[in-house]
Amino acid sequence: MTVRTELPDGSPVWLVTRYTDVRSLLADPRLSVDKSNGNGSWRGFSLPPALDANLLNMDPPDHTRIRRLVSQAFTPRRVEALRPLIQQTADALLDALDGRAEADLVRDYAGPLPVTVISELLGVPETDRPDFRTWTRTMLLPPGGDRAAAARAIGSIHAYLQRLLAVKRAAPAGDLLSALIAAREDGDRLTEDELTSLAFLLLIAGYENTVHAIGTGLLTLLSHPGTPVTPETVEELLSQEPPASMLLRRFPVEDIEVGGAVLPRGETVLLVVSEANRDPDRQGGHLSFGHGVHYCVGAPLARAELEIALGTALRRFPKMRLAIPAEEVRWLPSFRARGLSELPVLLG
Ligand code: HEM
Repeated sequence: MTVRTELPDGSPVWLVTRYTDVRSLLADPRLSVDKSNGNGSWRGFSLPPALDANLLNMDPPDHTRIRRLVSQAFTPRRVEALRPLIQQTADALLDALDGRAEADLVRDYAGPLPVTVISELLGVPETDRPDFRTWTRTMLLPPGGDRAAAARAIGSIHAYLQRLLAVKRAAPAGDLLSALIAAREDGDRLTEDELTSLAFLLLIAGYENTVHAIGTGLLTLLSHPGTPVTPETVEELLSQEPPASMLLRRFPVEDIEVGGAVLPRGETVLLVVSEANRDPDRQGGHLSFGHGVHYCVGAPLARAELEIALGTALRRFPKMRLAIPAEEVRWLPSFRARGLSELPVLLG
């Protein structure tokens, strides 16, 4: 289905839901992610230029140049090397729950795990991580939330990243940010804004979707006790509950006909992955990590995090069960993302 509708904030959008349409539009160069190709009706986040010059707002060839740099950090070999860190992080978070009768797995587990992993990868010091989590949560408030607080949080993240990049520039370490700075200085391949924006995107993208995927994955597994956590289970969970359910937004650079409708140039198109995955005519893999040039660069890392996070929690607390009926678990009031605001469980 391809329909025109309005978002809760009143902005007009086209929703595309058929699998074949979503998949082909994701690979279609006539759809741009660059907001300057939009007619201005899309609100989205209002980010300063130093955070906005990120991959998800950029078309080729700029996109290709930056993507090449960052994809080197997420090769299967590098992700394999991160598995012990993910495991230690999961173990430490679960150790901290020992002896407790109850927990909120979003607050105590699904939230802190990805932020630790991405911070380690990028080189964000441990003492700064709680601040970063608070700012991110505030920034990602659903529409109708406190916009002034969200703007302040964005300002804090921006200032923090500038400080962090200055520290890494003065004293390079073995982390990804230091490597990206070196790439910037070597032949000027990244502008300063592109560098800051990339750091920002990696922190946000490496965090939000993964928190949601772990949270919803645990909810599904606790509702279906005995399901083994295999790579196939992880794919099925991602397919059923894509965290970025409507996050894939595009602007046609010319009128495009799809599913009997015309997507007019400059209007906002949202590709509804959750519906596409459920399409009875689906032929091909799920689209929860996107498709085409913007396909999630962190997908191998996300898969490893999910497999370890879900498997470890269920093994460590085999009697764990939901503290309230599954239908009463609260979801974030957001059209953009599919994630839980809490997951209360009984541990013993
Ligand atoms: C379950 C977890 C995750 C999900 C469901 C997810 C989903 C997605 C999707 C759907 C896109 C494409 C967006 C579009 O085409 O508009 C994307 C892009 C991206 N993701 Fe992920 N992601 C996850 C985890 C991660 C992690 C852990 C990282 C990094 C550490 C990451 C980094 C990125 C980046 C940098 C992009 C932009 C790629 C580009 O524009 O070329 N993601 N992700």
